[in-house]
Amino acid sequence: MKVDLAEAQKTIQKYRDRRGAVIPLLQEIQSIYGYVPQELIPLIAKGMNVYPVDIYGILTFYAQFYLAPRGRHIIKVCMGTACYIMGGKDLFDHVRGTLGIEVDETTKDGLFTLERVACLGCCGMGPVVVIDDKFIGRCTVKDINEEMERLQSEKAERLAETN
Ligand code: FES
Repeated sequence: MKVDLAEAQKTIQKYRDRRGAVIPLLQEIQSIYGYVPQELIPLIAKGMNVYPVDIYGILTFYAQFYLAPRGRHIIKVCMGTACYIMGGKDLFDHVRGTLGIEVDETTKDGLFTLERVACLGCCGMGPVVVIDDKFIGRCTVKDINEEMERLQSEKAERLAETN
């Protein structure tokens, strides 16, 4: 997908040469595109007067940044020790197999991204899955299937409305 650079260039201009502004700039770029397109890295580096490798280092160090487009819905499966033992691994494998994607990948239709997260701090509710903002404690395969089907139907309805 071709990235429209105009918006990014305006944003880079806004932060140009401001000390300590690289992370806020990257956050703003990500809020525009949903991720930080790699082709923008040289432009960002030039605007902030640093090397591209410095920008790349920040993007890969902080978990908040994404270098590839993400899906409309994010499925996070907790793979902390407690959840893993209580079935998190099976849930993770189920989603992987059902959607045909690996961790941090997005389905071809752009609907789902699968992520693996460490302990979410509610181990007593394990295994835990979070789909967008919806927390599912003591999650089962049935719960996940129902939620994915609901989101797929919403997509179908949106498409029907636009046609
Ligand atoms: S291990 Fe999953 S919430 Fe703690």
